Amino acid sequence: MKFVSIQEAMKGVSHAHSGSSKSQIKASAKVAIRGWVYRERGSNKMKFIVLRDSTNIIQCVLKREDFAPKGVPSKEGKSQWDEIDKLRIESSVEIEGVVKKDQRAPSGYEVSVSKINIISQSENFPINKDLNEELLGDRRHLWLRSRKMTSIMKIRSTVFGAIHKYFREKGFYEHQSPTLLGAAGEGGSSVFEVNYFGKKMFLAQTWQLHAEAVMFALEKIYTIAPSFRAEKSKTSRHLTEYWHAEMEEAWTTFEKLQDNAEELVKFILKKVLETNLEELGILKRDLNVLKTSSRKKFPRMTYSESLKILKEKCKMKVEWGKDLRTIEEDNLSKLYDTPIIITDYPKKVKAFYMKESPETLKKSEDKKTVQGFDLIGPEGYGELFGGSQREENLEIIKENLKRDGEDLKNYEFYFDTRKYGSIPHGGFGMGVERIVSWICGLDSIKDAIPFPRTVTRLNP
Ligand code: 4AD
Ligand code: MG
Repeated sequence: MKFVSIQEAMKGVSHAHSGSSKSQIKASAKVAIRGWVYRERGSNKMKFIVLRDSTNIIQCVLKREDFAPKGVPSKEGKSQWDEIDKLRIESSVEIEGVVKKDQRAPSGYEVSVSKINIISQSENFPINKDLNEELLGDRRHLWLRSRKMTSIMKIRSTVFGAIHKYFREKGFYEHQSPTLLGAAGEGGSSVFEVNYFGKKMFLAQTWQLHAEAVMFALEKIYTIAPSFRAEKSKTSRHLTEYWHAEMEEAWTTFEKLQDNAEELVKFILKKVLETNLEELGILKRDLNVLKTSSRKKFPRMTYSESLKILKEKCKMKVEWGKDLRTIEEDNLSKLYDTPIIITDYPKKVKAFYMKESPETLKKSEDKKTVQGFDLIGPEGYGELFGGSQREENLEIIKENLKRDGEDLKNYEFYFDTRKYGSIPHGGFGMGVERIVSWICGLDSIKDAIPFPRTVTRLNP
């Protein structure tokens, strides 16, 4: 018999129930399925197995009398029942039987098993509901088989697919920048140094600087690639290796960039809501905020306006010029039921490549703002995107790099982007795990990636 997935096996029977005149109305169907034992219990007369595959789970019932016929011992004087009796969690099996609806079974269906082929008996599976977070982390490679992690990984797959689809449908080319860099992209303390044959190199924090060079050839480009940040703090939002979806576009404006970021979030949300309702259900995710965010316009405000709102609505006083801290972003985000976009940050808290806001050009360095934006997730999920219009003026770029203590020699190739046909352009980066974390309603970003890397988590 041809194997079908558990999902298909269940569908077969519900179709049979549908009452359409064409389909044969059967309350049951013969099926062959395979997978792993998710739960098991038994007596000396019956064995109940909940079988799982990548698609779903289904209850299977085996009766002793069918596998240990009286007076028909196997070669070694044993019956197959002895092996069935030993089946433990995560043993792998192939099964043939008759599937029918059964309200009492965990996913609403049950298979009466007529034939079983045990592929591999499992040792005692070292995962149970009493394990603490640390042990689940150590046994991550096994914990990934859980329904929770399986559901998250399916949603993650939808998110990756949606990002590609969004950009490709808008005419963007996929471009890859190098991961080993001679100069840090974002700078600051969060760059990993690599000993590169005795020379110093850095792991990419962003694809951006090389992407800006490639933009002159392809105009509209995007990527999804790992980025690295030497984040020492243990938070529920920081990984040291995360997947970064970035775009760079020629001739764009600061407004259009924000429109693109908002559109991308909505596109991803719609795809997930179309594809993954079952997984969101398993994760017990409240869908209201996701649905609202897929439809409603995201509020936009300048940094200065955000300080006013913080003062009036949250009783939090932030001195102009200080970057917004997590707690301030969280309090702001809780005032809205969609993501929000904050623009025009003080120049001194943002990266060297951000364009000075035209209206502040004449102001002192201290009072200047830049055309940079952060897109902050609702429900306290923090910064999901950072983006900006790029500074075109080479002298200003050099001044900013000096301010940051960078060695200009390392940026020669980047300076050429402003020497040969410089144009208005901009781009943004979205932390893929940040958005997966929000969509799935996770407590920690660590669960948004199969094998997280943090300051204390190096293995598996
Ligand atoms: O705001 P960031 O640092 O922006 C850049 O890297 C720009 N070069 C992007 C661009 O314009 N092309 O990072 C972008 C996003 C953040 O908003 C956040 O979602 C995510 O990357 N991110 C992290 N995600 C997980 N763990 C970390 N340690 C992260 N650091 C940043
Ligand atoms: Mg940022």
